[in-house]
Amino acid sequence: MKLELPRHTERFGSVRIHDIQRVVLLDSAGEGIEVEASVCSIPRSKIQEIERKMAIIIPVKDERLKVIEGVISAIPSECLIIVVSNSKRGKVDRFKMERDMIEQHVHYARRAIWAIHQKDHGVSKAFKEVGYPELLDDNGVIRDGKAEGMIIGMLLAKAAGKEYVGFIDADNYIPGAVHEYVKIYGAAFHLSQSPYAMVRISWAYKPKILEGSLYFSKWGRVSAVTNRYLNKLIASFTGFETEVVKTGNSGEHAMTIRLAEILDYKPRFAIEPYEIVNILEQFGGIVEPKYDEPMEAGVEIFQIETRNPHFHEEKGDQHLKDMLCDALSAIMSSSICPESLKKELQIELLKEGLQPRDNDRTIPSFAHVDAKLFLDLLVEYNAIHMFGYKR
Ligand code: GDD
Repeated sequence: MKLELPRHTERFGSVRIHDIQRVVLLDSAGEGIEVEASVCSIPRSKIQEIERKMAIIIPVKDERLKVIEGVISAIPSECLIIVVSNSKRGKVDRFKMERDMIEQHVHYARRAIWAIHQKDHGVSKAFKEVGYPELLDDNGVIRDGKAEGMIIGMLLAKAAGKEYVGFIDADNYIPGAVHEYVKIYGAAFHLSQSPYAMVRISWAYKPKILEGSLYFSKWGRVSAVTNRYLNKLIASFTGFETEVVKTGNSGEHAMTIRLAEILDYKPRFAIEPYEIVNILEQFGGIVEPKYDEPMEAGVEIFQIETRNPHFHEEKGDQHLKDMLCDALSAIMSSSICPESLKKELQIELLKEGLQPRDNDRTIPSFAHVDAKLFLDLLVEYNAIHMFGYKR
């Protein structure tokens, strides 16, 4: 793959946020990494090196089986796939259907996939036993939410000894686009100069049908607003207006495990914007840092624009409002958000008829959790299904 090198980088304490880099060439040959002028060439063998050390987490909630199967089929076989499902388990057990599909895929593809259900009692029991009860509700069951599913997946990636973790939504219609996302993760990690790195996908286009024809819109409605406020948050400290953040809501993103395990998270769809907020909180140099090493090594955020357009399931206006509310409330709740920006955010939410979610809890980092013990317990409680994988 050939990637543009970042043309502009915004610095905030130990954090470096690189502006958008485009994919110049989807696949490139060669032995080593070559940098010429403003382009970096990362040969496929180098990308595969990362893929062998990467787990891809697919959060799933009642998605179409055929679409999930397309997503799975697009992920390179070097990666461990971790499916974390919160699908309905009534008379029609959708999780069972998902597992059957995975089993059949693994039979032909000969690759490793783990599948787990978020509401399995074994999962909640294991969380209690490893001393990480923050994902549980008052009844001791894991809460609903995409973030909650992603955190389960991250712990499993850590338990599997992976160094990188990437996320791909299950409702991506185009397997070719999914394949590109994973290749981008692998390529961009080679550009990082720090073991604390994050790669966020910016879609070339999000096509919609408008008046009977395809319209290639650039930004989703929620992303445009979230990006604006994340940029305002940065500007409130640097004193310079910026447009550097273009991937505030990016569901498709990846991190080094070393970064993933020290971040605090926010629930549901607040997770992606809050990752950026928390990186600024922890490593922006505003408050006393908890960890010295990332402060010295720096934390890097890459934003890479794809060649493929992003086609995904549209889930309606209320869903978009929920996502916007999650995102803006997460920025508002930050200890580094100035009062004036909080007021602006409140007005923005009111304009949409929304109230800030003041009670949203922060889910603390999982650095202290014994991930291997967590996995052992899941195996003991029959709460994890490991296809094509030998421990
Ligand atoms: N495990 C789990 N648990 N997965 C969930 C849950 C849950 O409670 N809720 C949703 N998911 C899965 C969905 O099945 C899908 O694969 C993925 O999480 C994203 O959820 P969607 O409901 O499809 O969200 P979206 O496609 O509208 O929004 C996505 O893109 C946004 C950026 O445009 C999400 O990734 C957002 O987080 C992101 O901000």
